[in-house]
Amino acid sequence: MKTKITQSPTIAARFIEHGDVVAFPTETVYGLGANVFNEDAIRKIFAAKGRPTDNPLIAHIAELSQLDQLVQEIPPAAQKLIEAFFPGPLTLVLPKHKTISLLATAGLQTIGVRMPSHPIARQFLRACGVPLVAPSANLSGRPSPTTWQAVRDDLFGRIACILQGDQTKVGLESTVVDCTGRVPQILRAGGVTLEQLRTVLPETEIADAQDASAPKSPGQKYRHYAPQAKVVLTHFPQFTVPANESAYIGLHEPPQPAMFDKVMICRDAEQYAHALFQFFRECDELGVKTIFCQAVGEEGMGLALMDRLRRAAHG
Ligand code: TXA
Ligand code: MG
Repeated sequence: MKTKITQSPTIAARFIEHGDVVAFPTETVYGLGANVFNEDAIRKIFAAKGRPTDNPLIAHIAELSQLDQLVQEIPPAAQKLIEAFFPGPLTLVLPKHKTISLLATAGLQTIGVRMPSHPIARQFLRACGVPLVAPSANLSGRPSPTTWQAVRDDLFGRIACILQGDQTKVGLESTVVDCTGRVPQILRAGGVTLEQLRTVLPETEIADAQDASAPKSPGQKYRHYAPQAKVVLTHFPQFTVPANESAYIGLHEPPQPAMFDKVMICRDAEQYAHALFQFFRECDELGVKTIFCQAVGEEGMGLALMDRLRRAAHG
């Protein structure tokens, strides 16, 4: 398949109209979008990514008025989160509208909904005129793409179009909050922090990831975010002497920085999150065998960052 690479949201939207899939930038990571009302187009997402079909997709909207097409009702807690955090890096899991295909929701009666804040994403969604279901635009199992070049590396020849933008701001995916239960539950930590959610809804909880009997967020059971290199979490001050062909990313300078093929020191957890997936991809290109990642405190963006680091380390 020929892949069109463009900076024009209106050209990209034409591919959606024709029932094709388009990769586009958001403030979290690049997404791979299809018309939520076109089952054939949704099938193309799973095929292009090699994604298991039991992993549900997030629907993206440009306007709040589009919510009625996607969900059956908006509980009061969800309404408060919408007012506080839309548009932004937050996905709300809500009861789905009966017309929404079970292909999009992987058989669930709920649907994840998010309104990106990225200007190009919004122009593109507006030009499409319909909500788009979109997972991250990577091959399944690879780190989510934070640049259009990363999308191209994974999906060139497999998708109809890539809408170009800059490197994404947040660098990790949106926070997924289940709003269908007694209290809001974080299914996946992400760009909106637990502390921020609790300023609006103090009762917000982190879902128990150990409850494997009924994984609420099916995607969380898959290996994710992993580079080809082995990822090792390091806790200062203990530090193993690096193996050959290794790299390091963290908040503090490692001992013997010259031992590493590639080193990145980040100012804070936000910058670490912003850089991580791109760092993983660059390490793979260099043929690095082991990536040492400094563990961080789990406050603020540290919660989402540690979630991704653990998944990359333990697979
Ligand atoms: O930031 C993001 O969320 C990006 C951009 C493109 O918007 N998208 C993204 O999609 O990360 P994806 O498909 O890679 O991850 C979606 C996550 C998965 O863990 C999935 O299981 C969960 O959201 N999810 C989606 N719909 C759900 C639902 N109805 N109930 C529970 N979890 C759901
Ligand atoms: Mg993904």
